[in-house]
Amino acid sequence: MQLLDGKFLSETIKKEIAQQVQSIQQKGGKTPHLAAVLIGDNPASKAYVSSKVKSCAQVGFHSTLILKNTTISQNELLEIIDDLNQNDDIDGFIVQLPLPKHIDEQAVIMAIDPRKDVDGFHPMNVGRMAQGLPAFLPATPFGVLEMLKRYNVMTAGKQAVVVGRSNIVGTPLSILLSRKGWDCTVTLAHSRTQNLIEVCQTADILVAAIGIPRFIKAEMVKTGAVVIDVGINRIEDATAPKGTRLVGDVDFERVAPKCSFITPVPGGVGLMTVVSLLTNTLQAAKQRVLG
Ligand code: GUN
Repeated sequence: MQLLDGKFLSETIKKEIAQQVQSIQQKGGKTPHLAAVLIGDNPASKAYVSSKVKSCAQVGFHSTLILKNTTISQNELLEIIDDLNQNDDIDGFIVQLPLPKHIDEQAVIMAIDPRKDVDGFHPMNVGRMAQGLPAFLPATPFGVLEMLKRYNVMTAGKQAVVVGRSNIVGTPLSILLSRKGWDCTVTLAHSRTQNLIEVCQTADILVAAIGIPRFIKAEMVKTGAVVIDVGINRIEDATAPKGTRLVGDVDFERVAPKCSFITPVPGGVGLMTVVSLLTNTLQAAKQRVLG
């Protein structure tokens, strides 16, 4: 069993990005600038956004954090988005999800200029991705693909099972894995899937993206499978210093010995998600220069 080490890979990619930023600056180019909008004080969202902002500093990007409380109206948020769309200094921006219930998430995503949509959530980018055209890929699926690529994991002709059909992870990853270049035969499983255990057992590549702690058990995993754990769940643990700890959607202890490759949690896909956002932002900055 080999670990797909998100810590090592994300540090490597951050160094590559930092070098590119330096070379842009040496040529007199503009420093890439990412903005993030965070509404409310959901602890997980706060943690994700602060790690995105911190990573910007590590690679030499500028970043702007816009914090608003949950009483913000949808129109006020749409105005912020419009300002970010118009602001020439901002290359890309994200609106951290989930949003408060009184705000229509789809209306917000639709308002983002697709050229600055570094999350790849706008239907324009989703559609382009589905057709294999150049697009901003959503950060988590992009991070998973980058891990598979950099560890030379064979995907062509393999049976991939993606468990979880979210717009952010499962659905786009199932599309991407089936596209030319990756060439998997993909099954997208979800909460209504029958015989889930048997379906998972067919997987050469099993992706867990359901948000249920340690849902994937050893009996669901074929010997020699590649297991990608997208879950980040905080659970109670009296023995941990803070009384809680992070676990994935995979029962790592029992599943790992059966795998050819597996991602740990923490230290796996989560770190790759952040660097993929940086990669998209660098791309957005370059495209704005090149037109
Ligand atoms: N919430 C959970 N994951 C993400 C993400 O990748 N981007 C945004 N904007 N919100 C999220």
